[in-house]
Amino acid sequence: MTDKAHAELLEEVLSRYEQSPNPRLREITEAAIRHLHAFAEEVNLQRDEWFAGIQFLTAVGQMCDDRRQEFILLSDTLGVSTLVEMLTHDGTEGSTENTVLGPFYVAESPRRARGETMLVDPDEGDRVVIRGRITDTEGRPIAGATLDCWQNATAGFYAVQQPDVQSAENLRGIYETGADGTYEIRTVRPVPYPVPYDGPAGDLLKVHGRGWMRPGHTHMWVRADGYKDLITHVFDEQSDYLHADAVFGVRESLIRLFEPDDNGELATTFDIILDPR
Ligand SMILES: [Fe+2]
Repeated sequence: MTDKAHAELLEEVLSRYEQSPNPRLREITEAAIRHLHAFAEEVNLQRDEWFAGIQFLTAVGQMCDDRRQEFILLSDTLGVSTLVEMLTHDGTEGSTENTVLGPFYVAESPRRARGETMLVDPDEGDRVVIRGRITDTEGRPIAGATLDCWQNATAGFYAVQQPDVQSAENLRGIYETGADGTYEIRTVRPVPYPVPYDGPAGDLLKVHGRGWMRPGHTHMWVRADGYKDLITHVFDEQSDYLHADAVFGVRESLIRLFEPDDNGELATTFDIILDPR
């Protein structure tokens, strides 16, 4: 097949989308086709290899159910989820960076008082405090903002992964800022954990000799009237895997060191700046 024949084939395929009534969908579809053709051409893709790829994607789909989304995991481990987060953020200079939502968010966590611990079950981990102030991009405090938080226990699992072992409300909680924009969360130190690696996305990691661990982090979904939602993590500076996150979610600006505070508690400060809506 000549280069000219490639180009003519691609041109003909793209021409079939000219009447598409949805401009944005047409733009995305045409770009996907162009890149897929370029990809096949670049690696001189052979029939058996293309079929192996189709079988792989079929297995990814078959792994999905109500509780497992293997395509998201694949997207995460290829860095595409993080890229899309970066493209979506589009924030004002200086506002807090976002990162991946991850698969373990559960809505309607219990409301917790300022300074209350979100640890419900017994846990041997270090107790830590995360405190800070939520402001707008001008530095004005935002009162009544909510921080919907979730993280794993020292055993490595989120409550939603262990319904028979952990209380459903363990290490989940919604905190609110006071009039001065400040908040305070008590919890245990989050620990590194593996992304689910027992499916085809995990097989792809293994065949390439890649790891499947994420560094310890606490998730936050911050909401305030008049501001864009912020979905982010606070990463523990002393965690393993900080520079080998399987899903590429670490941002330097989100890494914090836990140190003893004036009361002798292991604490860190995580100030948050929200973008106006
Ligand atoms: Fe997580």
